[in-house]
Amino acid sequence: MLTAEEIRKIDHEIALVPVRKAACIEALKIVQEHRGWISDESLLAIAAHIEMSAEELDSVATFYNLIFRKPVGRNIILLCDSISCYVMGYEQIYDHLKARLNIKFGETTPDARFTLLPNACLGACDHAPTLMINHDLYKDLTINELDEILKTYK
Ligand code: FES
Repeated sequence: MLTAEEIRKIDHEIALVPVRKAACIEALKIVQEHRGWISDESLLAIAAHIEMSAEELDSVATFYNLIFRKPVGRNIILLCDSISCYVMGYEQIYDHLKARLNIKFGETTPDARFTLLPNACLGACDHAPTLMINHDLYKDLTINELDEILKTYK
């Protein structure tokens, strides 16, 4: 079941588009913002509200890597694995993150502090390697500063 607040925000998005289901991505983002991820129950509630089949909405949700269909940590690390970052040291950054956090791509630390995900180009190729934590972009990364960066996220 959607909350009154979620419905209010989704209805605002619906009012901006020609058909209800055109607001599907915004609706997913709104519910995820409130709940952290999109459970099956949430997906069914959104689908019913925007008059879309659950299967169709799930295909949209699973297409976008920033819509989470399983629980994630409090902080999402998106490590760029596109060509510039790959050439400029992506593998060392990934190896360091795996060793420090003891997780691989797609996994969450047991204390739910971090989820680690691969990501296509973050738009700062001239400052590779890069990663993003939540909404913070880190450029020209080195392994030394990575530990300090991680410490700032609780
Ligand atoms: S390739 Fe990593 S930011 Fe573009």
